[in-house]
Amino acid sequence: MARGEFNSRIGTFATVAGSVVGLGNLWRFPYLAGENGGSAFLLVYLCVSLLVSLPVMLSELSIGRSQRCNAMRAFKNIAPGPWFLVGFLGVAAAYVITSFYMVVGGWSLEFLRASVVGEFSGKSSDEIKNYFDLFLAGGTGPTLQALVSLGISLVVVVLGVSKGIERFNKILMPALFVLILILVCNSLFCLPESWKGVTFLLKPDFEKISLQTVLTAMGQSFFSLSLGMGAMLTYGSYISSDRNLPKTALGIVTFDSLVAILSGMVIFPAVFSFGLEPTQGPTLLFNTMPNIFQQMPGGYGFSILFFLLVYFAAVTSQVSLLETVTAFASEELRMKRWKACLAIALTMSVTGSMCALSLSGHGWFEIGGKPLFDIFDSVSSNVMLPLGGFFIVLFAGWIMPSRVLQSQLTNSENESPSINYVVLRFLIRFVSPIFVALLFLTLIGVI
Ligand code: PFF
Repeated sequence: MARGEFNSRIGTFATVAGSVVGLGNLWRFPYLAGENGGSAFLLVYLCVSLLVSLPVMLSELSIGRSQRCNAMRAFKNIAPGPWFLVGFLGVAAAYVITSFYMVVGGWSLEFLRASVVGEFSGKSSDEIKNYFDLFLAGGTGPTLQALVSLGISLVVVVLGVSKGIERFNKILMPALFVLILILVCNSLFCLPESWKGVTFLLKPDFEKISLQTVLTAMGQSFFSLSLGMGAMLTYGSYISSDRNLPKTALGIVTFDSLVAILSGMVIFPAVFSFGLEPTQGPTLLFNTMPNIFQQMPGGYGFSILFFLLVYFAAVTSQVSLLETVTAFASEELRMKRWKACLAIALTMSVTGSMCALSLSGHGWFEIGGKPLFDIFDSVSSNVMLPLGGFFIVLFAGWIMPSRVLQSQLTNSENESPSINYVVLRFLIRFVSPIFVALLFLTLIGVI
């Protein structure tokens, strides 16, 4: 079966960035930073992204590009034995993440709708919070919006790798970036307590750093960089062989961190200016942004644009999740792409609806009093992704023949390795896996 490939350098960057930049940056990063001491979290996040996540990203891209197939098959091709399970678990993680991710995508669609009909105009911050709470409690609204959100990504994935996914990302990513810059300027220069928000995010406070901060930062970094579950591996399999992987990966990590910081700079000045709680958790973005638009000149239009772009960010990431599972199903079960994609989307619509309903407050789909949505969110980011990342980086560093790793990272096999390659290989073989393992062992009380 002919496989797709990304056509251009810009298209490759935009598409990988489309997967990476998403709700993780706009929605998850600010609330985790809010809950974990702001700047302390940011600092740890940046260190972890460079030393631990970058090597994992390079491992995934290298494995994917060297094998040009879905995540599970790539492991199977390179090594016999149970290694294929790492790829398989990755595909399972993609499934779990999509189930709650599409719900948040649905929230942005709802806020887009509400912005268009002027639902928020003249409302106080308490009334806006109430609006969101009532929407969640309704159950039907969040479920329907989540399904629409999934449906749109389904169409893009069915259109194919370069005609659907690449083209879509090439338009949406630059638009997203420009809009964030406009909103940062508004938050910094037009809100009364903006400096408090900036201080909260940027002034380092080392005392607030705990083991939990490091672990949460690692989970977030993996989530935000779409790592540990085969999405980068699958996208890597569509990258043409003359692209420079280390350059691409470093560019992506930098861009992703930049968008997360910018998003914090949009949200925290507003949180402090409107007397909101920085530690309120997953609802932070949705309770904060409508307040900004109330006081902003042209707020009506910006509100529409903003939620449209939050949705774009969500859908470009959702596309990569769906593509990971679709590539697996179509290649392993020898199904046509569109059939595989449709079948998967149908099952995802069931688990996604369960996640949406679990937040209604009626006790539906809760396990031990915890909504399925929260369980999927924390299990995937704090357990599945770091565990997947650990085995992926171990595989790339120790199991995959080193000439394959070298040829992927340097685009040549026989040259004597450059210093960059030696450093990257050291990070992949030692720093990244040891760091993740130590953190896990500490967490489960072994050390
Ligand atoms: N990186 C995406 C975000 O920051 O929103 C989320 C994500 C997409 C995670 C794709 C995992 C993935 F495979």
